[in-house]
Formats: sequence, C-alpha cells, structure tokens
Amino acid sequence: MEKERIYREAIEQIAAVLEGEPDPIARMATICGILKHRLSWVSWIGFYRIVGPQLLAIGPYQGPLGCLRIRFDQGVCGAAARTLAPQVVADVQSFPGHIACDPAARSEIVVPVFGEEERLVAVLDLDSRLAGAFDEIDRRALEEIARMAVGAPR
Ligand code: SME
Repeated sequence: MEKERIYREAIEQIAAVLEGEPDPIARMATICGILKHRLSWVSWIGFYRIVGPQLLAIGPYQGPLGCLRIRFDQGVCGAAARTLAPQVVADVQSFPGHIACDPAARSEIVVPVFGEEERLVAVLDLDSRLAGAFDEIDRRALEEIARMAVGAPR
C-alpha cells in the first residue's frame, strides 16, 4: 500500500513538472531525479537508450557509475530490450549474464520504453541493494512512468 502511495505521488509530481516539456532527455533526467529521491529502496535508476542495432548506451541516471554500453545479448537490460518485456529479477546473482555495475546491487527491474508507433526507444533500469525489492506494483508504476518519459498520453 505504502509503495502504491509513493508511486502515485511520484507520478503526479512527474506529470506536473514535465507538462509542456518536449525534450526526451530533459524528461528522462527529471524522472530519474524525482524517483531516486522518493523511492528509498532504489540505489540506482537510469535510462539506457537504443543507439544502434542491438545496442544500448547510458542516458540520464542517478546513482553510482553505470556501465556505458550494453548489447541486447547482455544483462538484464539487454533481456528487456531483446524481449520487449519487463524483467523483474529478485536475485541478480541468479540471473545469467547479469552485469554488475554496482557490486552491492541485489535485485533489479527493467521496463521497456516505447516511443512512436510502439517502437522501443530505451529501457528504464532500477537497482536495489535489497533482495527482492521489486514486484508487480513497481512494474505497473514504472511502465506508466516509462510512457511518461517519451511524452505519450497517460
Ligand atoms: N545490471 C544491469 C546493467 C546496468 S546497471 O545495473 C546500472 C544489467 O544487467 O543489465
């Protein structure tokens, strides 16, 4: 319940702050700032953008240094980009190919970000230093926030 309230308030703030802002980088950076501040269970949040065939590059983020490039066949982010499906990983050590940017990260969620014509433009990645920190509440809220990142109507 508490989590739902936290996301509801975050989504309201994001909608208010982003109103009229068309630039996707400004939108993504603002979302990272708001969520990193509000979601106490999150140690890292950021966007990886599609920059080439089967290739992601780091976008706006908050937290410790993130790796700069991820191929679609690598890590949790690559799996989300490849399958176009959200990835909720309760224990990153049991995820084959997980990329440990932050050795202290224990769980992770990655949701795809779709732009015009439902084309994949980025993924939104969150890490936690707690095991099993992410669930269906996070997934639903973050999918909504991912739509807000590209300015699509809510
Ligand atoms: N752990 C991610 C890489 C990005 S960092 O978490 C910032 C992955 O396996 O795709």
